[in-house]
Amino acid sequence: MPSRYHARGPVASAAFRFAGPASGECRLRGHRGAHAIAHRPGSGYIGALEAAPPLQKGIFAVPVRISLQVPDKALLGAYEAALRGGWSPNTTRNVAPQQLAAIAADPDAFLAEIRGGPGRIRLPDGREVDRIPGPTRWIFAEDRPERPFVGSINLRWQEDAEGRPILALPEHVLGHIGYTVLPAFAGHGYATAALAAMLGVARDAGLPEITITCDVSNHASRRIIEKNGGRLVETFVAPLYGPDPRLRFIVSTAP
Ligand SMILES: CC(C)(COP(=O)(O)OP(=O)(O)OC[C@H]1O[C@@H](n2cnc3c(N)ncnc32)[C@H](O)[C@@H]1OP(=O)(O)O)[C@@H](O)C(=O)NCCC(=O)NCCS
Repeated sequence: MPSRYHARGPVASAAFRFAGPASGECRLRGHRGAHAIAHRPGSGYIGALEAAPPLQKGIFAVPVRISLQVPDKALLGAYEAALRGGWSPNTTRNVAPQQLAAIAADPDAFLAEIRGGPGRIRLPDGREVDRIPGPTRWIFAEDRPERPFVGSINLRWQEDAEGRPILALPEHVLGHIGYTVLPAFAGHGYATAALAAMLGVARDAGLPEITITCDVSNHASRRIIEKNGGRLVETFVAPLYGPDPRLRFIVSTAP
């Protein structure tokens, strides 16, 4: 396994979400690196928030706090429960049954692969190819007393012959980052905060910018990308994944 995946520990981030009147107008504040790190005994690190200033008289930013955790045996039960509940971390197909079987067969091997080790994937056209290795992080909601598992986010990139990260992706990889949040926790800003934190991981990996794509009809994902500074560069069709149009965004990883 390349050393780049060993060095990376749990990642933390903090985000603020506007909690104003029910106008539907929300603002994310301090979401690009405005965090401090605090130790979370037993399972890694969480984001520690700075105080949020009032946005206007009587209205305050409510913190959305997440941590990105390295997949670990201590957290596996929460992940399995989400899979058993019908959630799938893959946005193009339901991989829950396959992942539950892999966990039951060899949890350590499953964790090694999901943490960024080598693996094979089957494409929609039946071809089997090497998965681009890259870290997956599990998203935990640190702003809830029970600190539940709320989703998953992953990052992948290629390197040149000298081991330097390059922006190009193979045809079957639509973007550098993918994320899913459990339906029960949707709409609270967790995916937005997770993407903000993962941009920091990409920056640390040496990627000055990343590509993210989403279906034209995926308004929530588009919003998440745009709230993280995503710039729409094109509408395109990826024939391998069907005829639907998709949006390609470039997101800077600069803080
Ligand atoms: C898309 C997904 C990641 C959203 O996660 P989430 O934690 O609910 O996202 P957030 O709460 O951070 O932000 C969602 C934003 O989209 C907005 N949104 C949600 N549904 C919307 C809609 N139909 N139209 C417009 N905006 C919408 C929300 O209002 C919010 O924006 P706001 O903060 O400005 O109000 C989650 O629903 C999911 O996992 N979907 C399936 C997998 C997927 O599509 N992944 C993305 C692949 S590119």
